[in-house]
Amino acid sequence: MSYNLLKGKRGIIFGALDENSIAWKTAERAHEEGANFVLTNAPIAMRMGQIQELANKTGSEIIPADATSEEDLKALVTRAMELLGGKLDFVLHSIGMSVNVRKGKHYTDQNYDWTAKGWDVSALSFHKVCKTLYQEDAMNPWGSIVALTYMAAQRTFPDYNDMADNKAYLESIARSFGYFFGKDKQVRVNTISQSPTPTTAGKGVKGFDGFISYAEKMSPLGNATAQDCADYTITLFSDLTRKVTMQNLFHDGGFSSTGVSQEVIEHFDN
Ligand SMILES: NC(=O)c1ccc[n+]([C@@H]2O[C@H](COP(=O)([O-])OP(=O)(O)OC[C@H]3O[C@@H](n4cnc5c(N)ncnc54)[C@H](O)[C@@H]3O)[C@@H](O)[C@H]2O)c1
Repeated sequence: MSYNLLKGKRGIIFGALDENSIAWKTAERAHEEGANFVLTNAPIAMRMGQIQELANKTGSEIIPADATSEEDLKALVTRAMELLGGKLDFVLHSIGMSVNVRKGKHYTDQNYDWTAKGWDVSALSFHKVCKTLYQEDAMNPWGSIVALTYMAAQRTFPDYNDMADNKAYLESIARSFGYFFGKDKQVRVNTISQSPTPTTAGKGVKGFDGFISYAEKMSPLGNATAQDCADYTITLFSDLTRKVTMQNLFHDGGFSSTGVSQEVIEHFDN
């Protein structure tokens, strides 16, 4: 169902790799709600991804950009404003990658070059995106910037590895940049802390199947899907949430507030 929540709004969506991606679902929903936007991803992801299909479906242009490159980001933001015909109303940062996770390096035995790379891609890139938007004065007043995160920033999930630290840093950037964006530009900056979701990034975490089933049993409403996350993100891009900023917003079916569920008790109650 469409509510025209984003009618006439312009944006940039980072991170649609394939149809499972949270960014992919968000792009589809943003299109349904009347938004015009540019899709972007790392040049390498363009070659393997199916992003052209999404661009055709949503009438969007694709501009490749490595989110760790300030040069790429500046070119992206400038070109996006030209293509869309004005300043932006929303930006989604839906980017994450840990080399330590990919290569099975244990948290207690990090390869710090890999740690630094994963931090740059997963956390610092959000600062770089915000800095570019801020310095180029690219956001309209009451615009909204959202990044995706996970609850491992607050609680320990052993296999989430260095991504936990990256997410803690990412969430802090939303608060810190959110202050300046709010004061100087009337723009919101928030993170959404999403349930485990079966995407390329999600399934890369060791033990993901057990993990997602456990979260499902622990969440009174069940896990939030990528589609649910897209819906929630649209509300944060809309004019209905103008005073929500500098927040980490849990979108997880109640998981983060649940100590234990009946299902989990029964599992151990022999
Ligand atoms: N899947 C989950 O369980 C889950 C849960 C909570 C939060 N998240 C977060 O949601 C976001 C989106 O991930 P997803 O689950 O949709 O997986 P995904 O694999 O579909 O998306 C990750 C994206 O990051 C992009 N990316 C990697 N390096 C990049 C770079 N240098 N520049 C630009 N883009 C780059 C990838 O190309 C890909 O499109 C991530 O921040 C992830 O940590 C995911």
